[in-house]
Order: sequence, then structure tokens, then C-alpha cells
Amino acid sequence: MKYKNKIVLITGSGSGIGKAAALAFSKEGGTIIVSDINEINGLKTVSEIIKNNGKATFFKTDVSNFDMVKNLMDFIIEKYGRLDVAINNAGVGGDFAKITDITLESWDKTMSVNSSGVFYCIKTQIPLMLKQGKGVILNTSSIAGIRGLPNAIAYSASKHAVIGITKTAAMEYAKNNIRVNAICPVFTVTPMFDPEAMDKLKEGLSERLKANVPMKRFANVMEQVNTMLWLCSDEASFITGQAISVDGGLTA
Ligand SMILES: NC(=O)c1ccc[n+]([C@@H]2O[C@H](COP(=O)([O-])OP(=O)(O)OC[C@H]3O[C@@H](n4cnc5c(N)ncnc54)[C@H](O)[C@@H]3O)[C@@H](O)[C@H]2O)c1
Repeated sequence: MKYKNKIVLITGSGSGIGKAAALAFSKEGGTIIVSDINEINGLKTVSEIIKNNGKATFFKTDVSNFDMVKNLMDFIIEKYGRLDVAINNAGVGGDFAKITDITLESWDKTMSVNSSGVFYCIKTQIPLMLKQGKGVILNTSSIAGIRGLPNAIAYSASKHAVIGITKTAAMEYAKNNIRVNAICPVFTVTPMFDPEAMDKLKEGLSERLKANVPMKRFANVMEQVNTMLWLCSDEASFITGQAISVDGGLTA
């Protein structure tokens, strides 16, 4: 029970990696604030946690809206008075198009959720963690935050920004006992990355993507979540400012 009596916020926990993380941190004793723009899915995550005898509440947030992110933090302060672990995981894939074809609206939308969203979250989380005298933040970047991803300029730029935010925040607050790290998943089977949908887009695409991964397979969500469980725990107490790739060797 690594997270017994810990208050854990996970954005984007109505689906995919975030949902699996919410269930896993709850199994380890954490009290989970499930937050997502999708209320129906967020409430489903909460019901599953409660069905398994865990503790969770839902708070709807669009992370690209600073006032909503502030309301989320005000809710946490009022209900729990503390926040031990914040996992800023909500994200969108953005449109797949070449630089010459991508619209400005599409660029703005992806940047606002994936980059500004993480910035708004940490900006509101750090003051509470400073008051507590400690805290752990984990942001979800991507291998596209480490290397370029053709046809996904906004996604790749937004995930590079997540790493810049992570490293800067880690350096500013290391002396205050606040650790800030990022994970960089490779293709992980979730509603955002569905190999069957990829193949409908372009025949044989999923096999070609898989062939690029040295381990010759996609990740499953628990491979991302197990890294999160470790990185947010005291077992990783001297690790801060890192972008850890969970990628079957792709960025090696
Ligand atoms: N699946 C992959 O292959 C992969 C690879 C690298 C990085 N990632 C990153 O992992 C994170 C989780 O992705 P996933 O694969 O679980 O995707 P997913 O689509 O299954 O889950 C993303 C969740 O974020 C929520 N969300 C979207 N926009 C939001 C907003 N503005 N405010 C609040 N919530 C919002 C969605 O409703 C959804 O529940 C994302 O940041 C994604 O970029 C995923």
C-alpha cells in the first residue's frame, strides 16, 4: 500500500493511461481525484474505484482553461486540504497533417491542452505543495517530446514543451522538496492509440510503427502505470527533473 493516506490527482483519468493509473494508485491505498473533460467517463472511473473498495471523487476540468484548473485546486484544498501526488496526464493527439496543411486552430488547440494545460496545473499545484513542504508532480509527455514526429508538429512541439516545463519546475522547487518528473510513453494501446484505427487510416501502418520499436511491440497501459507508481513513490526520492522514456528502446 505505497499510497496509503495519500491524496492523488490524475487529470485525463476518464480513459486510457490516466484511468489505469487511477485504478492502480487506488489499489495502493491512494484517495484519487479523478479529473477529466469527459464527465461520463470520469464518473465511470470513480464507480470502478468505489466498486473495488477504493476512495475517489470526480471533478470536471478542461485543463486548457485556467479558471477551471484553479477551481479544481480550490476543490482539492477545501475537501482534502492537501495534495501529495499530481499526475498531469490529460492530453490530445491533435490532427495528423503536414506543417503546410495543419490549421492554426488545430495547432492552438493541441498546444493549449497539452502544454498550457500542464503549465496551468503545475502553476496551481505548486503553491499548495510549498505550504505542505513537499509534493510530487508527474507530467505525461511522449517519445514525441524527445524526437520529431512527422505529420504531428503540434503534438511533438507540445510534448517537448512538457519536458521543458518539467525540468524548469524541478530546478525551481527541488530545494522545497517538490519532485517534478515526466514520463515519455511510446505507442501504448488506448483509445488515443488504437492500432485497428491506425490501419483503417493507412493499411499496414500499425505493423510499420511496431517494427520501429526495438522490442517489436506496443506498450500496454500497465507498463506506463507501473513506471508512474514507482516514480511518484519514495523509492524514487532522489529523482527529479527527468523525462523517463517507457518506449521499448525506441529513443535509445
Ligand atoms: N497512448 C499512447 O500511445 C501515448 C503515447 C505517448 C503519450 N501519450 C500521452 O498519454 C496521455 C494519456 O493518453 P491516452 O493514450 O491515455 O489517451 P486517452 O485519449 O485514452 O485519454 C486522454 C484523456 O484526456 C482527457 N482530456 C482530453 N482533453 C482534455 C482537456 N482539455 N481537459 C481535461 N481532460 C482532457 C480525455 O477526455 C481522455 O479521458 C496523453 O497526454 C497522451 O498524449 C499517449
